Amino acid sequence: MHFNIITLFPDFFNGPLNIGLMSKAKEKQLVSFSFHNPRDYTFDIHHQVDDKPFGGGSGMVMMLEPLVRCLRSIDDKNYIKRNPPVSETDSELNKENIKLGLKQKTLESTQTWAKKHSSTQLGKVLLLSPSGKPFTQKMAQELSKEEKVTILCGRYEGFDARIEELFELESISLGDFVLNGGESASLAIIESVSRLLPGFMGDENSANEESFSNGLLEYSHYTRPENFEEISVPEVLRSGNHAKIALWRKEESLRQTFKTRPELLTDQELYKEDVEVIAQVAKEKLARNLHCALVHSPITGKDKKKCTVSLTNLDIHDIARSSCTFGLRNFYISTPLKDQQKLLDDIVLHWVRGVGAKANPDRAKALALVKCVDYIEGAVDDLYQQTGEYPILIGTSALLPSKKQKNKKIAYPKNINFNELRALLKQKPVLLVFGTGHGLHSELIAKLNFMLPPIRPSGYNHLSVRSAVAIMFDRILGDWF
Ligand SMILES: C[S@@+](CC[C@H](N)C(=O)[O-])C[C@H]1O[C@@H](n2cnc3c(N)ncnc32)[C@H](O)[C@@H]1O
Repeated sequence: MHFNIITLFPDFFNGPLNIGLMSKAKEKQLVSFSFHNPRDYTFDIHHQVDDKPFGGGSGMVMMLEPLVRCLRSIDDKNYIKRNPPVSETDSELNKENIKLGLKQKTLESTQTWAKKHSSTQLGKVLLLSPSGKPFTQKMAQELSKEEKVTILCGRYEGFDARIEELFELESISLGDFVLNGGESASLAIIESVSRLLPGFMGDENSANEESFSNGLLEYSHYTRPENFEEISVPEVLRSGNHAKIALWRKEESLRQTFKTRPELLTDQELYKEDVEVIAQVAKEKLARNLHCALVHSPITGKDKKKCTVSLTNLDIHDIARSSCTFGLRNFYISTPLKDQQKLLDDIVLHWVRGVGAKANPDRAKALALVKCVDYIEGAVDDLYQQTGEYPILIGTSALLPSKKQKNKKIAYPKNINFNELRALLKQKPVLLVFGTGHGLHSELIAKLNFMLPPIRPSGYNHLSVRSAVAIMFDRILGDWF
């Protein structure tokens, strides 16, 4: 496999590509590299490769011309001779071209050329950028089937964006961070791709069993000594029973993934047995700290005035069932109206202790989470009694506030996103507050610590509150948090 590396710093690669398995792979001609420096394709005395950005701002941008010449020259060694830079028409180079009969003012456009040549000397062309597609093991596997790969390493603020219109290329990111240049990112790609080539590693199976090869993290490894400071290697690995070892490794891989990268499990085809293994892992579930409240007062009415609304039986049942499904411990329903409280009491009693409970014990389990309070403050006090801490209050709304509303002096809570909320749930009790009617009244919103973003903020989003609760629970906890 051949890598063309486009870089302003070819020396960067001297060490890493000449040690260990990579140097052996070079000797065995499994991999080869050529370095192409855009600076060698400049014609001014300063060999300029960067220029100021249009529109102003800090930093410099990598210029198109040296880069295009550099890339086209990989395929056509005489490209520069055939296509001298416009400013160089009287240069020695051009005189020589005229002698050779090579003077051609305009050759085919780069776009037309790139269409024909991308699969020849350049092969697959990758451009490194923090805005690219995140690089994955799956991409490494696909790239390892290519004969040639060209990697563009950026510097400064990055490339002139038109490079992506000129060449058929894929923009790749190594992760959500910013490096000084693409050289270290390209090394990571080269290494992850090369080690998948047959013959690169001693044992061909190693690559098949590694993290991400089947979408999961790898199981843990151990070597001698068997006991170190009273910590032993798991018994099963010393048993010599290969079937048991294979099963332990499969299960360990599931456990490791659940512990550290639960989101990877979402893309897995799991069986009942797999989920049973995961369920045994003692992991602090975030739902332990999540509680929910359905508020009936103070609410915004149709006329935008403060009001109290009545209970909806469907909401009571469905939110209780969602709370139970996602592992919440409390579902508060607030209403200050005594007749409504009595109604709620009757419904809950029927399902938790009455005839309903006998007919449908699952429903009894869900409805047992319901607690009636006058106002949200009642839920806060109850959680303080239960946990010894005051909960963080997080509101929900179908509407986004306007900038004007936010800039007004009235208190409007800060936004919180789902990652931040999950981080909060690791430390503190959180009460998620849902409104009925036309949403929570501003008087109550002012008492909240944070607001979650609305579901589907643009266009029609008139969900029933019970649907909104289920969607929010899923966005916060998914299947594995
Ligand atoms: C200083 S960075 C430019 C950052 C760019 N202005 C931005 O904010 O997205 C210079 C070069 O480093 C490389 N680079 C930096 N971070 C990277 C990452 N996370 N993945 C891949 N390449 C990266 C790219 O080639 C980029 O053009």
